[in-house]
Amino acid sequence: MKNNIVLIGFMGSGKTSVGKRLAGKIKYKFIDTDEWIEKTEKMKISEIFEKHGEEYFRNLETNTIKELISSTKSTIISTGGGMPLRECNARLLKELGVVIYLKASEEITIKRVKGDTTRPLLAGDNLEERVNRLLTERMPVYEAAAHKKIITDNISFELIIEEIMKYYSEAAFFSGASGN
Ligand code: S3P
Repeated sequence: MKNNIVLIGFMGSGKTSVGKRLAGKIKYKFIDTDEWIEKTEKMKISEIFEKHGEEYFRNLETNTIKELISSTKSTIISTGGGMPLRECNARLLKELGVVIYLKASEEITIKRVKGDTTRPLLAGDNLEERVNRLLTERMPVYEAAAHKKIITDNISFELIIEEIMKYYSEAAFFSGASGN
């Protein structure tokens, strides 16, 4: 396992905000896989979905994790909400680093993603129904893909970061996580 910290979870669970703060605090680099894909493809995620479809995007996600496994260390990696859906990705994520699942309640998730136009899977009517369906499908996937789950409802960024660091230092100690 590499010594990275990988954040997974549903859209709006705070992966990017927590990841950036955590990286600043412990002086790690920060990578967001959606931004990485947008940069390499020179297209917005919504355009990729529109032009090439979801399957194509999922292939880009798989390629991204493989590339990050060979190129990163001491990095906080925030992933797109669908990253662990493919079984092979879930396995690769655990090679990439210590995998932390950030879990927000359905109610808070809906509040955070309401009005957002950048996420193709939430576009259209019936946001509540979409979120409910996707969360129900994905919850067990996130649980299985993570080394550790943190429920983020009503706790501060500081506390979330503290919990991550506590787990990370123990996990690194027991697994011999490597910066190589
Ligand atoms: C997706 C989540 C998005 C982005 C894409 C698909 C998903 O990332 O990768 O729109 O399937 O949950 P965020 O979780 O950062 O919003």
